[in-house]
Amino acid sequence: MRTLTKDNITEVFMGYFGPDTDPRLREVMQSLAHHLHAFARDVNLTHEEWRTGIAFLERAGEISDAERHEFVLLSDVLGLSSLVDMINTVPGGTSSSVLGPFHISGAPDIALGADMKRDYEGEILLARGRVTDPGGAPIDGARIDIWQTAPNGLYSSQDPDQDTYSFHGIQTTGADGAYGFTTVKPVSYTVPTDGPVGDILRATGRHPWRPSHLHYIITAEGYRPLVTEIFPDDDPYLDEDTVFGVREDLVMRYVEQPPESFPEGYALSGKVDEPYLVADFDLKLVPLA
Ligand code: BEZ
Ligand code: FE
Repeated sequence: MRTLTKDNITEVFMGYFGPDTDPRLREVMQSLAHHLHAFARDVNLTHEEWRTGIAFLERAGEISDAERHEFVLLSDVLGLSSLVDMINTVPGGTSSSVLGPFHISGAPDIALGADMKRDYEGEILLARGRVTDPGGAPIDGARIDIWQTAPNGLYSSQDPDQDTYSFHGIQTTGADGAYGFTTVKPVSYTVPTDGPVGDILRATGRHPWRPSHLHYIITAEGYRPLVTEIFPDDDPYLDEDTVFGVREDLVMRYVEQPPESFPEGYALSGKVDEPYLVADFDLKLVPLA
């Protein structure tokens, strides 16, 4: 094509596909080019701005490795990860939310009532609930992969002072669908800001904070896996999560309880001598189609 112009380049691009291209790939690539070209026209993108954008992507690549996922973080702070979550949410279950970069595989199995707080400072939190189907019937044998930050706001993979699986564990429900464990009350924390995504947050006057949360991945045979997080209703960042992870149904309330009411059957039973917090939260899974 020799008669290329800024007005026909998008249409010309649409013709640059081989006949055997996977139809879905064609659809995604054509739409991507459509919106990318429209964006460049819309803002009259300059060469310098284009170079800045490319340099940004190169720096994101350089800082990324098996544990540091700068492109995922970029997608998170742009709201893309959450948008994809919401597009793919099926009604009837607990909302999904961002996975984030700090999940690690191989966490140890923990029993119902296990203690993840260990000797860490901070308020005791008893997190419990049931895994159910959309009608509220308990799901037997659901596995809940749990992770959170330590009281210093760091995940174990960010913190040489924690062991690999501190504040990580996998619990399996019984016939009543119940899960429950003690931990330390999670804290609000900042997403990593020492890379190019941090530069964008600073340049656009955005803070890097996430409201405190517990992460869960719930899997059960015959049900759609659920990646989610739950948030306390009193967190100051609840309505301004920098990665857009909060959904109304994922907000819970901590209820403070006197030490003598601490339930039997938990690793800390009989050892709690100060008020503790309880977060009751049921997790609803949707059956596979
Ligand atoms: C997290 O919740 O662990 C997280 C999510 C998105 C970006 C950074 C951290
Ligand atoms: Fe997190």
